[in-house]
Amino acid sequence: MSSWQDEPHLDIIPRTVEEAARIGAVTAPTTDFNAPERFEQKTGGAATTRYLDTADAFSQFSANMPFESELKFKVGNGIFRKLWVGAPSSTKGSDGLGPLYNARSCQNCHIKDGRGHLPENPDDSRVSALLRLSIPGGGGQLLIPDYIPTMPEPVYGGQLQDLALEGYLAEGSIEIEWSAFPVTLADGSVVELRKPLFRIEGYRYGAPQDGLMMSPRVTPQMIGLGLLESVPAADILALADPGDSDGDGISGRPNIVWSDEFGRPLLGRFGLKAGKPTIREQSAKAFADDMGLSTPLFPGPSGECTPVQADCLNATAGQEPGIRDGLEVDGQALDLVTFYARNLAVPERRNLDDPAVLRGKEIAYSIGCTSCHNPKFVTHRLNGQVEQSFQLIWPYTDMLLHDMGDGLADNRPESRATGREWRTAPLWGITLNRQVTGVENYLHDGRARSLIEAILWHGGEAQAARDAVVGLSTEDRKALLAWLESL
Ligand code: HEC
Ligand code: HEC
Repeated sequence: MSSWQDEPHLDIIPRTVEEAARIGAVTAPTTDFNAPERFEQKTGGAATTRYLDTADAFSQFSANMPFESELKFKVGNGIFRKLWVGAPSSTKGSDGLGPLYNARSCQNCHIKDGRGHLPENPDDSRVSALLRLSIPGGGGQLLIPDYIPTMPEPVYGGQLQDLALEGYLAEGSIEIEWSAFPVTLADGSVVELRKPLFRIEGYRYGAPQDGLMMSPRVTPQMIGLGLLESVPAADILALADPGDSDGDGISGRPNIVWSDEFGRPLLGRFGLKAGKPTIREQSAKAFADDMGLSTPLFPGPSGECTPVQADCLNATAGQEPGIRDGLEVDGQALDLVTFYARNLAVPERRNLDDPAVLRGKEIAYSIGCTSCHNPKFVTHRLNGQVEQSFQLIWPYTDMLLHDMGDGLADNRPESRATGREWRTAPLWGITLNRQVTGVENYLHDGRARSLIEAILWHGGEAQAARDAVVGLSTEDRKALLAWLESL
């Protein structure tokens, strides 16, 4: 019988018993902090690239990619960067945008394959952050245990589209009000935290239904995703402890989500609440909801228009019978962009034998950071995916959901993730975003301007780890940050 723990998106060569035992030994957390571990520098296994101190650090392909696949990667990159236009247009092959949309290309949000940011002032671009919308209720989902029933907001849908083609009304715009407050650390230094309050300005299709829930999402970085897609579901589930049976205050639950691609529930891996099971499905949904483009998975040409938005539903589509399989983005283009997204390499680590970095590592392991930011996995052995097959990777995530407390709660459930839960953010390459996009920001809504701010927002299951950081000596805190900088 099929189960949500199956991995129909992968062609798996099963592990032998002997291999599984070896992997268990290799992935056990280290207790020796005197020197770097073997292979620790190669964060993405053999797919890891050499570190580049340029804005292209996140745009390299898996180092172990066969030469024949490079062209596929480059064509996929072209689709990721393509600027779509409204239909009809003389640029056949790039039309069909909208009519309502959030951005004109994948890359406009995933800036240089790095992360997005919130607008810092009224004139700043709003493109790389979005608001997901829903209301409570709707049908249950009997195949998903502890599913929390929600549905798209009936007027605005599952996401606010803040841009529209000429002649159409964008749904509204995202406005942010900040409030700031200080936190004093044990050594007397003070860190200012700022909290965003999100509001929709405009509501151009009328008032939303009562009970509207909004979840702000800043675009995440794109590196190492194919490796995370290839971690055995069983190894992720082995880290889950929903009832906190070991009593460490940290539980960890898998998200289980409906897969439109496979027509059944699967383990959620992608998105900030692990709301999508595969890179292909996440990408197809981005074409649909963010850009209003049809794919084989979501063949409607007008994206996320609701029945209330009649002119949106009736808009000219960029698809004609017989051309691109009658879609705006055909199966081949979706597969190429998926291949691209799977193969953005993780840059290798820096300074890992620096004594401060080793000390920081010891602190991170001892105060519980790595209880969620799980250091190592070994990916499945796979047919047809040499880049991801059987790699020892260091993503610093358990791919599970954790209650992060009121401070970070969006109060908007997604499948079985509650309004207080988020997927542990992978920490590989985390500080390189600065050089890739020129902006430093962390957490699901980009509120944190530095690593220490990001840590101080940790609450809920991570409260004890956060409090331990507040209590560190100046030197030890610097060491912990040096470790994060080296990832
Ligand atoms: C409007 C901005 C925007 C556009 C355009 C966009 N994305 Fe994203 N992307 C996001 C956000 C925000 C998330 C996090 C989604 C969530 O939490 O549900 C995300 C998540 C992802 C993820 C999962 C990353 C992870 O760490 O789990 C992939 C893969 C992805 N996008 C691929 C694409 C592709 C391919 C395209 C173009 C077809 C695209 N995106 C277009 C904003 C965007
Ligand atoms: C209970 C699980 C848990 C523990 C313990 C934990 N984290 Fe996190 N961490 C998360 C989750 C979940 C997020 C994403 C939260 C969000 O986006 O709102 C996160 C986000 C982060 C981020 C920002 C990542 C990004 O991409 O923006 C950093 C940095 C971080 N954690 C570092 C640490 C450090 C250092 C420690 C130890 C002091 C720690 N975490 C302990 C679960 C945890």
